[in-house]
Amino acid sequence: MKTVIIGYGKMGKEIEKILLERGHEIVLIVDENNTADLNPGNLKRLGAQIAIEFSTPDTAYNNIITCLRSGVGVVCGTTGWLDKFEDVKKVCEQENGTFFYASNYSVGVNIMFRMSEKLAQIMNAFPQYDVTLEEVHHTQKKDAPSGTAITIAEGIVKNLDRKRKWVNETTTVADELEVLAVRRSVVPGIHTVTYESEDDLITLTHSAKNRKGLATGAVLAAEFICGKKGVYSMSDLLGF
Ligand SMILES: NC(=O)c1ccc[n+]([C@@H]2O[C@H](COP(=O)([O-])OP(=O)(O)OC[C@H]3O[C@@H](n4cnc5c(N)ncnc54)[C@H](O)[C@@H]3O)[C@@H](O)[C@H]2O)c1
Repeated sequence: MKTVIIGYGKMGKEIEKILLERGHEIVLIVDENNTADLNPGNLKRLGAQIAIEFSTPDTAYNNIITCLRSGVGVVCGTTGWLDKFEDVKKVCEQENGTFFYASNYSVGVNIMFRMSEKLAQIMNAFPQYDVTLEEVHHTQKKDAPSGTAITIAEGIVKNLDRKRKWVNETTTVADELEVLAVRRSVVPGIHTVTYESEDDLITLTHSAKNRKGLATGAVLAAEFICGKKGVYSMSDLLGF
């Protein structure tokens, strides 16, 4: 597979290792110092098939559109730009292109997404429990709450009848789900859902040990979409 890495930071460097380990070719690496290299002429000349995009909330959208308009499929992991997701879907359709998005590429986190949805359904029958969500990440993370926390929060709001929306602050409003973002030194990512009654606590926690699981998931997604058309997510990749 002829790949492009867009965003050569913590994730881009991990993805590079996994791509090479799995025998893929990297035809271009783009970061903030050579953004002009990401252009349709260059992508065509290099024969790029799939771009893996882990840049910044402010730059992801334009990078994705450039790739889709150039006939290059995109696996995007950048969070914090999702207000433009519908636009991306539209362009992907217009161009008969391929787009894969996940707020988290770790298999374990995606299992937790499903467990949290199921737990929320079960908890409809137990109103004595209130629920909160906490995420902890390294201090360089630009968006808060994390895209992963937003996915978990949306899953709870969708499945737990007594929560109407999530808020990124402490709240005592009964139908609001409290989502707190904590920033601490070098933590790759911890997400905890807590149900609390007067008598006990039930917690569901995912704690990433490193970034390798995330990078591997992104490369598996790139392999999955290569040769396909349309918009895909981790549910398609993992067969949920
Ligand atoms: N979906 C997931 O599984 C997942 C996992 C980890 C991180 N993330 C997200 O991925 C993004 C990147 O994370 P990171 O930890 O690697 O960040 P990072 O700060 O280490 O790296 C960001 C990189 O983007 C580059 N960049 C800046 N402007 C650019 C542009 N216009 N075009 C291309 N590259 C540009 C920077 O030079 C840098 O190399 C963040 O949004 C983060 O939240 C998602």
